[in-house]
Amino acid sequence: MNFHVMTLFPEMIRQAMGESITGRAIREGYISLDVVNIRDFAENKHNRVDDYPYGGGAGMVMQAGPVYSCYQSVCEGIRKEQGGDSGRKVRVIYLTPQGKVFHQGMAQELAQEEELVFLCGHYEGIDERVLEKIVTDPVSIGDYVLTGGELPALVMMDAISRLVPGVLNNDLSAETESFSGSLLEYPQYTRPEEWMGEKVPPVLLSGHHKNIAAWYREQSILRTARLRPDLLEKAELTPEEREWVKGQ
Ligand code: ADE
Repeated sequence: MNFHVMTLFPEMIRQAMGESITGRAIREGYISLDVVNIRDFAENKHNRVDDYPYGGGAGMVMQAGPVYSCYQSVCEGIRKEQGGDSGRKVRVIYLTPQGKVFHQGMAQELAQEEELVFLCGHYEGIDERVLEKIVTDPVSIGDYVLTGGELPALVMMDAISRLVPGVLNNDLSAETESFSGSLLEYPQYTRPEEWMGEKVPPVLLSGHHKNIAAWYREQSILRTARLRPDLLEKAELTPEEREWVKGQ
């Protein structure tokens, strides 16, 4: 997976991605990160990339020219890396509260791509004309407004990275975790066996794998019913499980 990020705050992206699991994944070559500063494509000697909105109104708007030149430079880099034009249009994700709301299924789908380009906006937005030309996927990370697209891009890259084979030490954990089959993950425990008078559920100490698996499933269903009943409706439950959870 090769991530390309167009931003006015490159250090924000590099710093966050350089830590923890994504940092290790970059160092070990499972993912790559190419961060490009839109300001490097400014068209004036003051390095300005924003201007007043036509029609008036609050705030500034990022200009089409620098964003488009930045995009062309990223595409040129991808072509070189691939040794020519693959003929595939690269996906350009624009982070915006007006986009489709990000979810685990979208992360899984995007993790299949070889290249992903993220466009982070700032100020009041980006000139619509360049968005129409280059953006393939407008995406929001939730119904609230942030100051820019960097944090949403980081959220998305984090969620996508951990689905790339090799990034997690334990690939199984991406399958059993929350949202697989639209269920939340079961509770987890580690040593000590008793903490502040609270014991680990005995079944987990039994060594009986079938009973443990059944308990995990039961707990996932119960948690989802209590914490996210909206998810339970589309969860993959057997008719018996549906009947059972109604009685809980
Ligand atoms: N930019 C500002 N707010 C955002 C959000 N909620 N999701 C994605 N991009 C944004």
